[in-house]
Amino acid sequence: MKSTLIDVHTHIYPPAYLRLLRSRKQVPYLLDLPNHEGDEDSTHSDSPSPRLIILPSDNDQRIPPAKRGRPLDSGYSSVPEILEFMDVHGIGKSILSLANPWLDFLPASEGPKWALTINQELEEVCASSEGRLYTFGALPLSAPPPQICEAIQSLGGSPHVKGVIIGTSGLGQGLDDPALEEVYATLQQSQTLVFLHPHYGLPSTVYGPRAHESGHVLHLSLGFPLETTISFTRMYVSGVFDRFPRLKILIAHAGATIPFLAGRISSCIEHERLYHDMDGTRVGGPERSLQEVLTTNVWVDAVVYSASAVQAAADVVGRDRVLFGTDHPFFPPLKAGAEEWMSVKTNVQAVREAFEKAEVVDGILGGNATKLLDLP
Ligand code: URA
Ligand code: ZN
Repeated sequence: MKSTLIDVHTHIYPPAYLRLLRSRKQVPYLLDLPNHEGDEDSTHSDSPSPRLIILPSDNDQRIPPAKRGRPLDSGYSSVPEILEFMDVHGIGKSILSLANPWLDFLPASEGPKWALTINQELEEVCASSEGRLYTFGALPLSAPPPQICEAIQSLGGSPHVKGVIIGTSGLGQGLDDPALEEVYATLQQSQTLVFLHPHYGLPSTVYGPRAHESGHVLHLSLGFPLETTISFTRMYVSGVFDRFPRLKILIAHAGATIPFLAGRISSCIEHERLYHDMDGTRVGGPERSLQEVLTTNVWVDAVVYSASAVQAAADVVGRDRVLFGTDHPFFPPLKAGAEEWMSVKTNVQAVREAFEKAEVVDGILGGNATKLLDLP
């Protein structure tokens, strides 16, 4: 297969991160299973994979250990397996990012050194990949802002780093926190692309008392995009893009539900009394229109498994601002031995179905990423 696809949304837990997870007893942590507790979910090996206890709801002692959280097989960390996955699916280049929950949970004093170690490991992996792998670096977001800024600046010296990945929690108060201004100033000044990715979902009460019957379905399909939508909209309404009009942000999962809700968000702003005086003159709220921000500051990936959804995203942000991704290795085939991943195939097909013009399809599947990330 011709390797022309560029995957901007693909994750890894590098060895240092696995050591960190293994050293912990609180979420997130790795739960090793004794050999006899066979793991029927494991697709990569006969010995049971450790379970990644990634959400507070995974840490439920009523669930048998072999069913708790997710199986973390070698596909989450093995570079040869990543390259093999790329070959099977015709992916020429991938931008690896540390998977959630990144370094959010670390004490402030620990974050910077782990970020350094993990980013070094990622840079080394990419440097020896003969041009196939690049990375979005991890940030120590629990550390004081000057140290976060230092981490951003130090990434500038790594040739394979193409931006940074962050979650929605910021310093713990979300991405509209005034304490983040210094960080945004550094990101803008260095023109560092920010890949905004969910992890926390919504408060578990919204899923109701039967949530455990559907595993991660509600969290991943609804919690993830709504978390992202809320986080970005909070940034927008608090004026982050007015104060930092050159920030560059790549929003995961085709912009979550932002493309669909953009009109509604704008209308609510136009009708918000707090933002208007008695004459109807605008006195507050974001200055730049959401449409302007979405077409100048925002890029989205195409990880949405639907032609109409990827088309809607492209209609709102622009066809040259949509970039193919896989979310590897989070949606593996559940049938043992399957080579092709349905999750990947569905995303490629959605792009091909949504757009008639070859130049648009080629742009989304690779050309747009080449341009944005300045790839060879
Ligand atoms: N995709 C991700 O990136 N992370 C998850 O935890 C699940 C799906
Ligand atoms: Zn992801």
